[in-house]
Amino acid sequence: MLTESLTNQTQLQIPGDSSLLSPDFTFGVATASFQIEGGADTRLESIWDRFCQQPGAIRDSSDGLVACDHYNLWQQDIDLIASLGVDAYRFSISWPRVMLQNGQLNQQGISFYLNLLDGLLAKGIKPYVTLYHWDLPQYLEDQGGWLNRETAYQFKHYVDLVSQAFGDKVYSYSTLNEPFCSSYLGYEIGIHAPGLKSPKFGKKAAHHLLLAHGLAMEVLAKNSPNSMNGIVLNFTPCHSLTDEPQDINAAQLADQHFNQWYIKPLIDGQYPALINEIPLDHRPDIVDGDMDIISAAMDYMGVNYYTREIYQTDMQNGFAKVTEKPLPLTDMGWEIYPQGLTELLLDLHNTYKLPPIYITENGAAMPDKMLDNKVDDQDRLSYYQTHLMAVDSAIRQGVNIKGYFAWSLMDNFEWAEGYVKRFGIVYVDYQTQQRTIKTSGKAYRDFVTSRPHLI
Ligand code: NOJ
Repeated sequence: MLTESLTNQTQLQIPGDSSLLSPDFTFGVATASFQIEGGADTRLESIWDRFCQQPGAIRDSSDGLVACDHYNLWQQDIDLIASLGVDAYRFSISWPRVMLQNGQLNQQGISFYLNLLDGLLAKGIKPYVTLYHWDLPQYLEDQGGWLNRETAYQFKHYVDLVSQAFGDKVYSYSTLNEPFCSSYLGYEIGIHAPGLKSPKFGKKAAHHLLLAHGLAMEVLAKNSPNSMNGIVLNFTPCHSLTDEPQDINAAQLADQHFNQWYIKPLIDGQYPALINEIPLDHRPDIVDGDMDIISAAMDYMGVNYYTREIYQTDMQNGFAKVTEKPLPLTDMGWEIYPQGLTELLLDLHNTYKLPPIYITENGAAMPDKMLDNKVDDQDRLSYYQTHLMAVDSAIRQGVNIKGYFAWSLMDNFEWAEGYVKRFGIVYVDYQTQQRTIKTSGKAYRDFVTSRPHLI
């Protein structure tokens, strides 16, 4: 529950001895290409363009053709980012914007990102570049998408060309954002693009995504040895409804499916034990040498955290999500559970030999109201307050965390939820494309600009 003292807060309150205040801790804001860019007529079709046309796929029947029109408004958006005083900006490259179907670079697309990179660097903002945030070129989906091993090699080729074109302008590369979403949501339950639904597909697609990551890491080590190169994973801690062994087992099973399936191959070079329990035709097609490629050393790992899930045993599937949620919810219907972030970080730290961690996404959709040109989002501010303290707590307990990015810089296309859900610390009026910094954004700005080393 929100405490009384937090309900009227306009500032983030971070203790003076917190490592969050140290000069080498990075604060940033994050976005992704399909969610903000628009400018769809100047690039190839992506799987999300195609998916948006499926009746019922997107809650408000919207699409990414215009979005926040960042493709045209990028200069003003750089000014906006700079006005927030952040150290870094995490954004993604639209693969269908920078590549042509013949395997060559689209120079117009490359110029767009070179201008963006130069504009950020000129303002002293470190570019954190995500190479794949879900917008696969549709022509590759037509050849099987992530179910086709060849897509991993296409990704390698794309990463090779763009990383050469970007030279030394990029501070950090992340190969993939949340491969769980691309594979499970996209190929197994079909609520994301490309909208395929089969229990056989999820883990096969995941393997090709992880392979793509590993192949890209090799390329980045060659083309961009000075940037910090890694991956961004999402984690949803799996809690058990009761202390009964069958519910605890259910939660552990869900954890292997949704969390361990992605991190364990990357760090330990093997899939979790679950791989021996799932039906043979659900298992990925692993070629000799794949696991070594996938588990190449990383300079950092990005962690995205929003909420937890509760599970109970289920006769048919072994586990079932509990839909009754005891804690207050965000506008996504996600429980606000900040201590889950501390638990998660400690758990990862205790289980794996990890590189430094960056919280590459954290934030909340809230039912924002614009009144007198202001959005007073106390609820989102409280979310940031409690989650930053959760990060602080993990650092105090020994986890090596080097940065934090708010999701998101601004309201944007929230995938299957369309424009209905707002995650921004900046409000976007989609009629006028006017950006208005919310109370949470002002508090974030005031906090990052008041850190001791900046004064
Ligand atoms: C994860 C994704 O990376 C991002 O694209 C999405 O908008 C947020 N979570 C919120 O759902």
